[in-house]
Amino acid sequence: MPKMLLAKLVKKEKLKEDIFKFSVEAPKIVNTSKQGNFIEIRVSENIEPFLRRPISIYNLDKEKGILEFIFQVKGKGTEILSKKEEGDLIDIIGPLGYGTFDYENYQNIAVIGGGIGVFPLYELSKNAKKDGKNVNIYLGFRNKNFVLLEEEFKAVSNKFILTTDDGTYSEKGFAIDFLKKDVEEGKIDAIYACGPLPMLKAVRSFAIEKDIPCQISLEERMGCGLGACLGCAVKTANSPKDAPEYMHVCKAGPVFEAKEVEI
Ligand SMILES: Cc1cc2nc3c(=O)[nH]c(=O)nc-3n(C[C@H](O)[C@H](O)[C@H](O)COP(=O)(O)OP(=O)(O)OC[C@H]3O[C@@H](n4cnc5c(N)ncnc54)[C@H](O)[C@@H]3O)c2cc1C
Ligand code: FES
Repeated sequence: MPKMLLAKLVKKEKLKEDIFKFSVEAPKIVNTSKQGNFIEIRVSENIEPFLRRPISIYNLDKEKGILEFIFQVKGKGTEILSKKEEGDLIDIIGPLGYGTFDYENYQNIAVIGGGIGVFPLYELSKNAKKDGKNVNIYLGFRNKNFVLLEEEFKAVSNKFILTTDDGTYSEKGFAIDFLKKDVEEGKIDAIYACGPLPMLKAVRSFAIEKDIPCQISLEERMGCGLGACLGCAVKTANSPKDAPEYMHVCKAGPVFEAKEVEI
């Protein structure tokens, strides 16, 4: 059951001009959270902005009861959140999300992410590495200035590839091309992805074509977060054209089997 609580902000870090990492004390949420879950944050006690903002869980420290999340300032909600200071209390509901990243049945896993979509992939990679899996990580960024969390992901990987679209840092090109090569060589049993929609679409099509188990986290789609609107509807794959069926990302996701959904 998700918990609603006021979590104390114990550490605030600025990773980039507009990207912040918050560590909050939330043992009741930490204890029941899994990789791929998210939280919803009420950023202000005022009427506006009324809706909670969904943010992925980046890292869980189960011993200390600390939950970490990272966010980019996009609009009013995240702007207000970015102004919180250490010692402040943050109104959080979590853990949320029905679908979680499941790697138990696979030994050689590929974790692929792009841009600010890499955040929910860290807890997954960390746990999989700890459980003795062979963790291959492929992260793609637009250019050198957008690169994030390189050392953190490297530390929880067996193989680590970082790409920039323009080659201003590390490998030039798209992360998926490096993943494809490893899949073609039979080195990967399952794929886990989160990132911009074009990347997710490409990963999904490739996984289906190669018949490789693949889970994707659909973070770009959400409205109320409560199951009450259609803001997060995603089409169920292979549903009839004249009577399409939909699932709610906030209730059934955000992590889905790639072949379950049409994106
Ligand atoms: C399940 C889930 C997990 C998420 N995890 C993270 C995370 O870990 N870190 C993070 O930085 N962001 C994450 N997001 C996106 C984050 O929720 C939005 O950026 C945030 O709600 C924007 O709120 P705002 O009030 O600042 O901006 P708004 O004023 O609501 O919107 C400002 C701009 O941001 C765009 N925007 C709003 N929501 C999203 C979205 N979901 N994806 C892309 N663009 C959006 C709007 O189209 C608009 O252009 C996640 C979203 C979902 C659905
Ligand atoms: S966000 Fe409103 S139903 Fe899911």
